[in-house]
Amino acid sequence: MDWKNAYCVGIHEIDVQHKTVTGCISRIEQAVASRERWSDVNAALVSLSTHVHNHFILEESLMRIHDFPQLQEHANVHWEFLAQLRTLQEQSLTNNVLTDGVKFLQEWWDAHIQTHDKSYALHFLKHMALVETLTLAASATLQNAGRCTVSALQE
Ligand SMILES: [Fe+2]
Ligand SMILES: [Fe+2]
Repeated sequence: MDWKNAYCVGIHEIDVQHKTVTGCISRIEQAVASRERWSDVNAALVSLSTHVHNHFILEESLMRIHDFPQLQEHANVHWEFLAQLRTLQEQSLTNNVLTDGVKFLQEWWDAHIQTHDKSYALHFLKHMALVETLTLAASATLQNAGRCTVSALQE
């Protein structure tokens, strides 16, 4: 699975994490395609789970900070995927991971970034712009208030 520009959401840290997870899926694809030992495939799945788990925590924290209205819905989709990933990881201990399993990971990840993640990214960027505007307005108000106080003291 290759990284593509269509996956960019415009938030640097998220894009970096998405690239890392895409690389983990690519590693599993390579291990399965070249029939590597089951333990190597399992290790690649464990690595994917760790990165995905950390990534979901970051996304959900940012959604909370930025008051994203679909936080619960998005988090449910995340936890459902983690459960499916855990099942695949457990199955890899006793059965070889098939290309169907790899295809599931690729399709889920591709669709999730381009639909769910892009929707929160737009909300974050709008929210950050709003916060910046409000901060500038509050700063200007405070400066004016400061001038009034100073001029009132000088009178
Ligand atoms: Fe994501
Ligand atoms: Fe997500």
